[in-house]
Amino acid sequence: MKIKSSEITDEKTYLNRRNFLKAGALAGTVAATGLAYRWLNPAKIELAARKDIENFEPAPEPGRDEKTSLEDITNYNNYYEFSTSKTAVAAAAVSLKTRPWEITVDGLVAKPRVFGIDELLKFDQEERIYRFRCVEGWSMVMPWVGFPINALLDRVEPLSKAKYAAFQTFYPGSNPVNLKLPEGDNGMQSGIFAGIRFPYVEGLRLDEALHPLAILATGLYGKELPNQNGAPLRLVVPWKYGFKSIKSVVRISLTEEQPPTTWNIANSREYGFYSNVNPNVDHPRWSQATERRIGELVRRKTLMFNGYSEEVADLYEGMDLRKEF
Ligand code: MTE
Repeated sequence: MKIKSSEITDEKTYLNRRNFLKAGALAGTVAATGLAYRWLNPAKIELAARKDIENFEPAPEPGRDEKTSLEDITNYNNYYEFSTSKTAVAAAAVSLKTRPWEITVDGLVAKPRVFGIDELLKFDQEERIYRFRCVEGWSMVMPWVGFPINALLDRVEPLSKAKYAAFQTFYPGSNPVNLKLPEGDNGMQSGIFAGIRFPYVEGLRLDEALHPLAILATGLYGKELPNQNGAPLRLVVPWKYGFKSIKSVVRISLTEEQPPTTWNIANSREYGFYSNVNPNVDHPRWSQATERRIGELVRRKTLMFNGYSEEVADLYEGMDLRKEF
């Protein structure tokens, strides 16, 4: 049983989704259920050397994966630049100004470019209802709005030498390349109080970044992304622990070497580069076999790759996921 798209999306997103499906049909897809997704541009497949995804239905299982309330999604947050207390982030993040806002996409690309956020908001936006699993052992189901990262990377033309994508969060005083960004501290605190180094940085292997499930989110529940969830633009990689989903992005650089990542710098024994959701590899200080879905009382089993094995397992073929965790 699949949820009807009209039930899970607001009108604007729904229309965009219909356009998206129309484009899919033009590209030769049979959208039999009216919800079938297909990767649209064959050139991009070559670029990433990964499999096509047919009949991709992003909505989690109805009955088992109900959407978490907006109230919970926006009041139980990890955003250490503002506070290490989950319930204090929302109020503190009110100070974040999200205009002007530019994102540079540079490094090993043929056409490095600075994008204004309003330009990115004009990309085709889709609703993606994803499970979201934090390394701490809690989870939610989030109705994101956004676009696949590959739609952006395609415009800058990655060079064949590029193997990784490095991401950076906005942080006062560390403007990467004179981007137009808000002035002042925006309510962000020093890394000394948070126990990690800022600016927050993250990374993906390029084939992970180009995977159609990896998105840059611009909204939640059909509305603009709230500050506490990483406005105006945040990464969402649903098969990885939540800390990979870096917030308030200002830079994406393609590199040949694996880039440093914030939690790996803080504690490499506990947080690896890959950080794929994996119930069989425990955190050194707690089990990852189960999770607490916010809004529920009984813990549930954690799924391999957070339930997205069918779509992403082949990215890791031949790897020992205990060693490369
Ligand atoms: N990005 C930045 N810049 N700073 C952060 O502290 N926390 C991460 C991730 N992205 C974090 C971040 C962690 S640990 C999690 S679980 C998710 O954001 C939480 O996202 P949410 O608040 O939207 O649920």
